[in-house]
Amino acid sequence: MRELADLFAGNRAWAESVERAQPGFFEELARQQSPRFLWIGCSDSRVPANEIVGLRPGELFVHRNVANVVVHTDLNCLSVLQYAIDALKVEHVIVCGHYGCGGVQAAAAGAPLGLVDNWLRHVQDVADRHRDELAGLEAGAARNDRLCELNVVEQAVNVCRTSIVQDAWRRGQRLTVHAWLYRLQDGRLRFAHFAAGGPADVARDYRIAIATPPTLP
Ligand code: CO
Repeated sequence: MRELADLFAGNRAWAESVERAQPGFFEELARQQSPRFLWIGCSDSRVPANEIVGLRPGELFVHRNVANVVVHTDLNCLSVLQYAIDALKVEHVIVCGHYGCGGVQAAAAGAPLGLVDNWLRHVQDVADRHRDELAGLEAGAARNDRLCELNVVEQAVNVCRTSIVQDAWRRGQRLTVHAWLYRLQDGRLRFAHFAAGGPADVARDYRIAIATPPTLP
């Protein structure tokens, strides 16, 4: 178990190594950020956004919550989305789910956990929407994995339906909303066949994404 002192020591070593490799890196970055990507992912400690895509500080705007859920009344997520799109002008919003997601598993199991049940209700809504397909799968890993896939696609659609994305597309801003999945066992990202660059793409990509298993690029 790492102690708090180790975190400060680790931070100092990291900052020094970054500065050594590129003198003035932090000074320069402190003046502005201009990331091209917004990442909406799960809070799971095993899915560290910047690290798994090899991006440095300043390159990825990030929002994470349990089970990478995008809810139209969540001011936290919507504020991140609005700032990223309207102010930072990111070109891509990536919703990234992951197989083996504890939040998705808990939603599938339905056992009461307390407050978080209200949050996971949104994942259960996804499960309800795809009840017939999920019922045809063996309970356990197969069904949970499929719910992880369905959840990330539904959440990407939710991003597309926000007034923020709709307004951006209406004014001609270049913006694509993606659904990806990360596998803990191999550290690799899969494309979930959803990459909507405008209102007309959403329904088409949704159909394709639901019908096609995610693939390695
Ligand atoms: Co998770």
